[in-house]
Amino acid sequence: MKEFIKKLPKAELHIHIEGSLEPELMFTLAKRNGVDLPYANIDEVKQAYQFDNLQSFLDIYYQSAAVLITEQDFYDLTWAYLKRCEEETVIHTEIFFDPQTHTDRGIAFATVINGINRALNDAQQQLGISSVLILCFLRHLSAESAMNTLQQALPFKQYIGAVGLDSSEVGHPPEKFQQVFESAIAAGFLTVAHAGEEGPPQYIWDAIDLLKVSRVDHGVRCIEDPKLVEHLRERQMALTVCPLSNTKLKVFENMSEHNILQLLEQGLAVTVNSDDPAYFGGYLNQNYLALHESLGMTKAQAVILAQNSFTASFVTAQQKQKFTKQLRLYAAKEG
Ligand code: HPA
Ligand code: ZN
Repeated sequence: MKEFIKKLPKAELHIHIEGSLEPELMFTLAKRNGVDLPYANIDEVKQAYQFDNLQSFLDIYYQSAAVLITEQDFYDLTWAYLKRCEEETVIHTEIFFDPQTHTDRGIAFATVINGINRALNDAQQQLGISSVLILCFLRHLSAESAMNTLQQALPFKQYIGAVGLDSSEVGHPPEKFQQVFESAIAAGFLTVAHAGEEGPPQYIWDAIDLLKVSRVDHGVRCIEDPKLVEHLRERQMALTVCPLSNTKLKVFENMSEHNILQLLEQGLAVTVNSDDPAYFGGYLNQNYLALHESLGMTKAQAVILAQNSFTASFVTAQQKQKFTKQLRLYAAKEG
């Protein structure tokens, strides 16, 4: 199964690039930029990565991002992730970035996006990996700050496919960002939002109705509202589910309690993703493998999950067909 997953052509649709910052690169960048870290060594970093909930993770995640200063830092971060994609047969990836985490520390928006974008271009040229970049607004900050960030993004519009919403969910409902999302849609962006990770099913309804999202990030708490489950199924609204993240942040106590295959069997368009792989114990294939080991995911289910990742991606119909063909060939040979 491990080998089957490794070579399975797939897309990743929920990865925060700042969450792919491995401790080794964190130390390298800290040294390069003269930034003090609250850790003496990599063991201490790994010790610190024990979380009770989303907020306990976010506190550490934002702190670590302080080592990212230059355009080259953002390039190196993104390139390291893309090399992992190559190893894991992730042939397409849709990457979140959090500009406010950086602009609030005085790093220019252009520094962030130019570094990331250069790595994405190199990945297309050198590794054959395609990508879409998604700008996320931090929901614990004000709507005004989000609107200001959207303005800063407009000169780089050709690099960005969609806007999203991440950070502390509970207490920061979708309606807080309705106007920002309206402006983003008017500017030509697609929209997504984290909803129903820790927040209630109502936040999923509101992400769909108020923010007009094309996908829901996480969304696992939909299961508490049968009408919502039916709505998601009917609309084939994709959920970008992150199994290892959900267990590390205690959305589910154990992987054996995760509901992703239950949702899949009910006909929902669920996908598998890594969220913040450097913090949650694994990249995309580790997430697929965990579903096999703890929930008995079969090869046939893995193929459907991979198909869902292509169907729910933000590429042209022609590109989706190309991905699907590659997956079908693989499944026919190895499935
Ligand atoms: N939820 C909200 N914000 C985030 C996450 C997440 O899982 N990962 C990085 N920022
Ligand atoms: Zn996320």
